[in-house]
Amino acid sequence: MSKKTSVIILAAGKGSRMKSNRPKVLHDLGGKTILEYVINTAQSIKPKKIIIVYHDKKTTTLSKHFNSSIEWLVQKKQEGTGQAILLASKKILDDENVLVLYGDMPFISKASINKLKNCKKTAKISILTTKIKNPDGYGRVLRKNGKVRAIVEEFETNHQQKKIKEVYSGIFLANNYDLKRWLKQVTNNNSKKEFYATDIIFLAYCEGNIIKTTEPMSSEEILGINNKLQLSILENILQEKQIKQLLINGVMLKDPTHFILRGRLKYGNNVEIETGVVLEKDVFLGDNVTIGVGCIIKNSIIDSNTNIQAYTIIEDTKIGKNCIIGPFAHLRTKNILHNNVQIGNFVEIKESIIKTKSKIKHLSYIGNSEIGSKVNIGAGSITCNYDGFKKFKTIVGDNVFIGSNTELIAPIKIADNSTIAAGTTLMKDINEPSLVYNIKTQKHKKNWTRSNRNYQK
Ligand code: UD1
Ligand code: CA
Repeated sequence: MSKKTSVIILAAGKGSRMKSNRPKVLHDLGGKTILEYVINTAQSIKPKKIIIVYHDKKTTTLSKHFNSSIEWLVQKKQEGTGQAILLASKKILDDENVLVLYGDMPFISKASINKLKNCKKTAKISILTTKIKNPDGYGRVLRKNGKVRAIVEEFETNHQQKKIKEVYSGIFLANNYDLKRWLKQVTNNNSKKEFYATDIIFLAYCEGNIIKTTEPMSSEEILGINNKLQLSILENILQEKQIKQLLINGVMLKDPTHFILRGRLKYGNNVEIETGVVLEKDVFLGDNVTIGVGCIIKNSIIDSNTNIQAYTIIEDTKIGKNCIIGPFAHLRTKNILHNNVQIGNFVEIKESIIKTKSKIKHLSYIGNSEIGSKVNIGAGSITCNYDGFKKFKTIVGDNVFIGSNTELIAPIKIADNSTIAAGTTLMKDINEPSLVYNIKTQKHKKNWTRSNRNYQK
């Protein structure tokens, strides 16, 4: 029977090349932190234990997304990968295998880890390496008569070694008893004064052990993120992959070079997405949904045959079937729009329910409201839902007509079938179907020009 495996994820580095006040591994990649990718992959191999070595306390904020089976271990002084692994290996039983993953290498796959596991069956230590065109920044694999002899860090390479194209990912699998033994012998006698984990390879070699290498399924998997240029390269790779998949699966992206998905997209048939669209977190687009130019949609559900027109922003909102939304609409958090609703330009809606066949087509603000079905809200009408301290509710019944430029001062209720005349400031509940108006009488002064305006001093 194969040995139990525990995983150590290194996430305590200084990340100084990132030039950021956020820990490197907490930077965003396609809507998730870099470290989350590594944790998800570690979990997929169902290890006995996962230990994450961190330095900045902020890193542990991620723990809320994962179950408590993950151990978070602080590395107080960031004295190198060797020291970080040694700290964690002391929390693992001697007879277990230890898989070391780097928190800044998000694309490593389960399939590559399985290759590494296979390789370990006939070796003392198995390591993941690959050949790349530009090996700058990586540790180089030194071989003697074809056998791995050592890893030399970029910082310590001589002119000849710099030319070596075979690089080390930092990812390896070894028995914990051996690992601890080797790590205890590693010194910081190098130009960075760090304990390099990579030095264990030479120690293993000197003992005459078999060191086996295997390649990742794709060389992209061992791309590390040390600076923002590398972060953007990985973001591009991720976006390209997602875009290809969506197109193959039938989502029409009109301009694939200007489409961003930072999260998860579920979709029906015949979805069409225009240029410049950004989708974030969990988004569902039903059959025949169309999304216009420049829309941002976050964490929302849009049901079949709905048409989202250009430059609309939608967040935490559920939209029914056959709706027309936008252009330039802003559906801010916690809205539910039923079927056949129409929302037009410069309309902002927040924490509201809009029922079937209602229309709010121009220049409105609707907040904390429940709008019945077949309601028409005229241009420029708004809910006054906030008194500076608290939010209040507006409830509009079915089949209500609200004329343009109306102010609904909440809390307020309007009975079904009422009509509110344009320009009304509504302060009291309307409890039965009525016509409501309070338009001030229009005054008219003849022979008046601006120049005879009479200012009071
Ligand atoms: C490391 C490897 C290098 C390999 C490269 C692949 C070492 C010494 N070098 O170099 O051979 O080619 O990765 O990307 O391992 N970390 C800690 N504690 C520390 C220092 C680092 O937890 O004290 C963590 C970092 O957060 C990071 C990982 O270890 O996730 C690697 O550290 P980093 O400084 O990025 O090493 P590289 O220079 O990339
Ligand atoms: Ca790195």
